[in-house]
Amino acid sequence: MANPAAGMLRHARGAFLLSIVLFAVIVYHHSIIQSGYSERMSAARSEEQPHWQAAARWEWVLAPAEGGATAACEALSARVCGSPAMDGYAHVNASCLRSSPAARWWRNAAASGRLAEKAFLEAHVEQRADYDGVAVKWGLGHKAASAQACAQACLDHVPAPALTDSAQGVQDLPCNAFSWCGDASGCFEPDIHRHEYRDCWLKFAEAPLEPEVNMRGELPPDFRARHPRAPVTVQWASGVLLPAPLQPGNGTWSPRYSW
Ligand SMILES: *[C@@H]1O[C@H](CO)[C@@H](O)[C@H](O)[C@H]1NC(C)=O
Ligand SMILES: *[C@@H]1O[C@H](CO)[C@@H](O)[C@H](O)[C@H]1NC(C)=O
Repeated sequence: MANPAAGMLRHARGAFLLSIVLFAVIVYHHSIIQSGYSERMSAARSEEQPHWQAAARWEWVLAPAEGGATAACEALSARVCGSPAMDGYAHVNASCLRSSPAARWWRNAAASGRLAEKAFLEAHVEQRADYDGVAVKWGLGHKAASAQACAQACLDHVPAPALTDSAQGVQDLPCNAFSWCGDASGCFEPDIHRHEYRDCWLKFAEAPLEPEVNMRGELPPDFRARHPRAPVTVQWASGVLLPAPLQPGNGTWSPRYSW
């Protein structure tokens, strides 16, 4: 005859062994997930791209309409049309810029209504810097009282309706970068124009997360040797517009840096 007490003991022992096995399986899986996670984190760190880490942290902020923060990082750091200043802006390809990842991201964000939301875009102003881009609003005589006011003009800029003929220019591209002349005596550029105090250039740039930098901080001796009229420190302030909370990296040198 079966002993009910012994049966219960067997059940209890079985349940105990089962729970130990389950616990071991959970710990094992957790350690696999942890090691994958730390590998990804150290990969992100070794790339030294703070905005990618910000993207991972803020994925939920940038809604799916734009494909989330990682997609925004990709679109806003891609450069598929080359550097506009490569040959003195002689071969700017407007149709390439129009279909570039940065322009497409902007159109999607506008269509979803996010661009119109207050504080969706943030302006990041850098003093003593000049960023490159193609002018969507010519700066000669286009005045703004401060770098912040120029940033606001960029935020407020309404692109022209879609152009189909590239020969018509780039006026249908959005403003996502700007340069403002902050020196009362005017601002040096290695070009033929006279750049005056408070001129505000509105620009479209591919890769605004890593802007192309024409000049920054103190101009190096070789630059000043090529351009005797150049000042010691850059007279411009520049900036980019990015969806919050992405932060621009230090960028890459534009070909203008070696003009
Ligand atoms: C301009 O860009 C478009 C799209 O990327 C490309 O198909 C076309 O060949 C380019 N035109 C020139 C003149 O490079
Ligand atoms: C970015 O930072 C690195 C390291 O500080 C520097 O060598 C490089 O020249 C910088 N690039 C630009 C465009 O300022």
